[in-house]
Amino acid sequence: MRKLCVVLAMAFLVSCGSGYEDGVIDTSRLDGAASETQNWLTYGGTYEEQRYSGLEEINAETASSLGLEWSHEFDTARGLEATPLVADGVIYTTTAWSKVHALDATTGKLLWKYDPKVPGETGFKACCDVVNRGAAIYNGKIYSGTLDGRLIALDAKTGKLVWSVVTVDQSKPYTITGAPRIVKGRVLIGNGGGEYGVRGYVSAYDAETGKQAWRFYTVPPAKGAKPDGAASDDIIAKMQGTWDGDYTKFGGGGTVWDAIVYDKDFNQVLIGVGNGSPWDHRVRSNGKGDNLFLSSVVALDADTGKYKWHYQGTPAETWDFTQTQPIILASLKIGGADRKVMMQAPKNGFFYVIDRSNGKLVSAKNFVPQNWTSGVDMKTGRPIEMPGARYENGPFVANPSGHGAHNWQPMAFSPKTNLVYIPAQEVPMAYQSDAPFVGREGGWNLGVNLAINTLPDDEAGLKAIRAILKGVLIAWDPIKQKEMWRVDHGGPWNGGVLATAGGLVFQGNAKGEFNAFNATSGKKLWSFDSKIGIVAPPVSYSVNGKQYVAVMVGYGGGYGVASPFTENMGPRPNGRLLVFAIGGKAPYKVERMDPGPAVVVKDKWSTATVAKGAQIFETTCSVCHGGTARSSGVLPDLRRSPVLADQKLWQEVVHDGILKDNGMVGFSKWLSREDVEATRAYVAGRAKVLATKGI
Ligand code: HEC
Repeated sequence: MRKLCVVLAMAFLVSCGSGYEDGVIDTSRLDGAASETQNWLTYGGTYEEQRYSGLEEINAETASSLGLEWSHEFDTARGLEATPLVADGVIYTTTAWSKVHALDATTGKLLWKYDPKVPGETGFKACCDVVNRGAAIYNGKIYSGTLDGRLIALDAKTGKLVWSVVTVDQSKPYTITGAPRIVKGRVLIGNGGGEYGVRGYVSAYDAETGKQAWRFYTVPPAKGAKPDGAASDDIIAKMQGTWDGDYTKFGGGGTVWDAIVYDKDFNQVLIGVGNGSPWDHRVRSNGKGDNLFLSSVVALDADTGKYKWHYQGTPAETWDFTQTQPIILASLKIGGADRKVMMQAPKNGFFYVIDRSNGKLVSAKNFVPQNWTSGVDMKTGRPIEMPGARYENGPFVANPSGHGAHNWQPMAFSPKTNLVYIPAQEVPMAYQSDAPFVGREGGWNLGVNLAINTLPDDEAGLKAIRAILKGVLIAWDPIKQKEMWRVDHGGPWNGGVLATAGGLVFQGNAKGEFNAFNATSGKKLWSFDSKIGIVAPPVSYSVNGKQYVAVMVGYGGGYGVASPFTENMGPRPNGRLLVFAIGGKAPYKVERMDPGPAVVVKDKWSTATVAKGAQIFETTCSVCHGGTARSSGVLPDLRRSPVLADQKLWQEVVHDGILKDNGMVGFSKWLSREDVEATRAYVAGRAKVLATKGI
């Protein structure tokens, strides 16, 4: 069908590219995705997930003529993290609150939209914004996870729901933000929730029926509990000895919230496993044992989901060092031999090259400065930890920290330059034991007191801290384990990366610039100011021989909403999908909104009330409204909110939950009216600092 269409197209100039009546995306097309340079068929472009486009029309010579071809505005100003898929002239992408969109790839016309109607209150279960990283396509259907834990299959032509399965216990704080992957006619999906207290796993469902085929748990059930009846049973029984104490009280963690990569060469699926729950290893496991498979890569049989091998980068995880960051498969010439390897740059700061045939570590080197180890012991593959790093002797300022030396923002690999392009960052954070730890249903359960990361209230002090934070694009030689060049973005939390055969690397940044760099030298060749903030990775595709570069623009995600260091760009405009081409001249009108003045509150509170409010705010509210009530503008800056001056309205919003449908739950289950008033007292104080000092 497709071939015929191509022949007809050449003979009669029939347009094949724009109609989605073209052939369906079956297993063989997914297998051969690299040869379909016009499309972007899987999350990482191909099964190898290199995020490398074979298109060359846009290159070092032509990049300066790039311009906006079209844009589409979405209905949300929250984080957009998705990798758009492109199949035969149609773009499929996902937005905040797990909405799915299909657009014509040449014109931007919306073909259909599906809203899974995630309840607004689910936003409270999401550590890191109500984001979604993308969909999967297979056999005429689009698959997507929803924040409240469903996996849905939609008709690719109409957007109508075909089937939906609930993949988690919805009474627990599970979420789904990651993209599903298609493996041999099945849809694989993980979940998140490690900060709140869940037990991680990955599941495979039949793509046609939604029937569960297998499930692999990453951490064991309680000691003495009966087996799960899952693919993980045998290995879990063996690994249970790496855990101690009442480790299931908060689930144990180990969520598979991002990387799930199909490795055809060895008929296996590589999953990246998240942090421990709670974070502090002493709280979680009495300070004993490696806690497998936390912070590991685990290889599973692609048919049965059974264990094959694993590599654990951070044994006895205690810093939120997830190892679920994107995995890239490649064949590299190492020591004269072609080695089939996987490459990963997880949160802990090390770039790992691992032999996919057996899980053996080939090499490991830190790609940013790190202070928790003195290196990796290549005999054992284990990190050599620094004394004090486990905050066992008091607070420890770890660099990197749980924000990650590299987080979910995908890196890219160019087989042309043999370089990996890492969106890296330096964000230190202080850890202090929260002993004696008291768990809290519904909220973050870390076992770590992060409130010690308070910020100075003077411009010079803030400036000094901001100067420490870095966000860089690093071109890394994975064979030499060496940096070749870097670009400094001026601050952390920038976008994912795309490499192209045109010798370019595309990346957006927190400030909203979308840039093209020379892949060999790092020289900036082109830039577009989106004025919004970019965290998502770009993709490239072509229709009728014309190359496009597309990127979702919309700031947010964990650091994006919570960090008090992000420049407050005011209330953010709605996010967009921007598509660029040579000679593109579409208009673009996005104005930054003024953050507005600080609200001055006349009421007075006791010092004790303000202190109590500070404690509640920094542990309960700051993850969404920003540390020390300094917001990046993604969610309301409460210091500038009219609600702050209105005691009754503050109670209605914060205690009673009148805005729950918009993602602001009522806290009556956890906070008394006095507690809620204390948060107002604290924020009023923060507003005063803003009014008097401008910070
Ligand atoms: C899970 C994320 C989240 C957490 C945690 C959270 N909020 Fe919110 N909050 C929101 C969102 C989203 C909105 C915007 C709702 C809307 O658009 O109507 C909001 C709005 C508000 C508003 C109204 C602001 C305005 O100008 O409309 C107040 C007041 C508020 N939050 C206070 C708090 C306090 C106090 C806490 C801690 C006890 C808290 N929030 C915790 C997400 C959160």
